[in-house]
Amino acid sequence: MSFLLDAEITKQEMIGPGHYRLNLLAPDIAAAARPGQFLQVRCGSTLDPFLRRPISINAVDRENGEVALFYRVAGRGTALLTQKAQGEPVSLLGPLGRGFSLPKSQARVAVVSGGIGIAPLYFLLLELAVFGVSADVFLGAATAGQLFFTKEIKGLGHRVEPATDDGSAGYHGLVTDLFAENMARSSEYAMIYGCGPGGMQRRLAEIIKEFGVSGELSLEERMGCGVGACLSCVCKTGSEGSIQYRRVCTEGPVFPAGEVVWA
Ligand SMILES: Cc1cc2nc3c(=O)[nH]c(=O)nc-3n(C[C@H](O)[C@H](O)[C@H](O)COP(=O)(O)OP(=O)(O)OC[C@H]3O[C@@H](n4cnc5c(N)ncnc54)[C@H](O)[C@@H]3O)c2cc1C
Ligand code: FES
Repeated sequence: MSFLLDAEITKQEMIGPGHYRLNLLAPDIAAAARPGQFLQVRCGSTLDPFLRRPISINAVDRENGEVALFYRVAGRGTALLTQKAQGEPVSLLGPLGRGFSLPKSQARVAVVSGGIGIAPLYFLLLELAVFGVSADVFLGAATAGQLFFTKEIKGLGHRVEPATDDGSAGYHGLVTDLFAENMARSSEYAMIYGCGPGGMQRRLAEIIKEFGVSGELSLEERMGCGVGACLSCVCKTGSEGSIQYRRVCTEGPVFPAGEVVWA
């Protein structure tokens, strides 16, 4: 079930250059939200920008009725969102979309994140910990200062393997290269979950296929309505000869890794 409501900001803080965490009071959304789902957020206080922006649910505190978002300033909408302060309302529509499926056993899983992809994956890691599932988390970022949530993820009992593009922390190179090297040593995961930039997810899908493991990826397409009406967010799924167009906002954003046809 989704809700359209004005949520009061309980906290907004910059946790790194151009990266913000926003906490909102929205008990109905907090109760209904599942990892991988997102909200359509009205970023400004007027109708400019007209379209809401999709932002993943980063965490929920069901006891206090709070929802947390983690976002990177990408353009006008997200820049306007940074100007909102504690006590101000933000119009939210959600939770929306189909999220990650939780494992059926307590067998180990892998989580592969690139950049802002950690936003929905952190919520997943919180829920996995509640269900007693441990994860190996391959956390990729441009530089050490952008390896967000490392301490919190370790605190949940998961193992973190960082990778940075500039080599300032952990593995020097792409998180997918680090993950492929790890898979060559041991690929015994019940599930592989991923989120990040398109190129990273495409490579991750190849690795998942190569090792014959189950995987789910959360896609990021530009969205208009967020509720299945405008068709601006379609992606290709299936295989050659039986291609289907699916709406990322309603049939995703999470898809089985093997179903996505990469452009
Ligand atoms: C399901 C979903 C969940 C998302 N979750 C998060 C999140 O948790 N945190 C976060 O920081 N961002 C998230 N995004 C991306 C976020 O929606 C965009 O960064 C935001 O809409 C940009 O709006 P803007 O007005 O600031 O920038 P705009 O001026 O609209 O665009 C600025 C730049 O960002 C690019 N861009 C816009 N939308 C997207 C998109 N969907 N994917 C990739 N590039 C885009 C544009 O091409 C342009 O280059 C998510 C996107 C989707 C589809
Ligand atoms: S954003 Fe409108 S159909 Fe998906």
